Amino acid sequence: INLAIFASGSGSNFDAIVHAIEKGELDANVSLLVCDRVGAPVIEKAQRYEVDTVVFTPKVYNGKAAYEEALLADCRDREIDYIILAGYMRLIGPTLLKPYENRIINIHPSLLPAFPGKDAIGQAVSKQVKITGVTVHFIDDGMDTGPIIDQEAVRIEDTDTEEDVKRKIQAVEHELYPKVIQSLLVKEDAK
Ligand code: GRF
Repeated sequence: INLAIFASGSGSNFDAIVHAIEKGELDANVSLLVCDRVGAPVIEKAQRYEVDTVVFTPKVYNGKAAYEEALLADCRDREIDYIILAGYMRLIGPTLLKPYENRIINIHPSLLPAFPGKDAIGQAVSKQVKITGVTVHFIDDGMDTGPIIDQEAVRIEDTDTEEDVKRKIQAVEHELYPKVIQSLLVKEDAK
């Protein structure tokens, strides 16, 4: 099973997925990193693991369909089975969504449907909720609205700063994401 990871930022989930594969906990290959931000730290991580990397600048294309056509070709060239969004800060359009229906998943740092969109952790902290968490879900045409695959809760203590909550959430993400991907692959195998 070939995975493409789409990311825009630091790539800690990228790292966690690669490590899970190295440890034999996830039976897949990371065949491609797609990044929409020149200089994002995740690019260096992919290079360290010799993962093929496509860095693109959305602005130079004539719209979303145009760059997604290019990305679709990159995915098809490498026979990508699943697209794994890991901090990819763009909505996926129909050009990728149709051919990869039910094969694009995302991780979001809240218990959806609470706190969709940007800065989910900041939203949870400012609302003073006591339980937040992590959601892994399929992508549909909305923002953080697709069918939920799995979730895990994280408790916010009164003494926690936003940084503390972020650290706790990330620790959960790094365990949960590889596990959920592996469970999808096992289900696919059983079909
Ligand atoms: C994660 O918190 C994820 O939930 C959100 O973006 C963040 C990406 O972090 N969608 P990283 O780049 O994997 O470190």
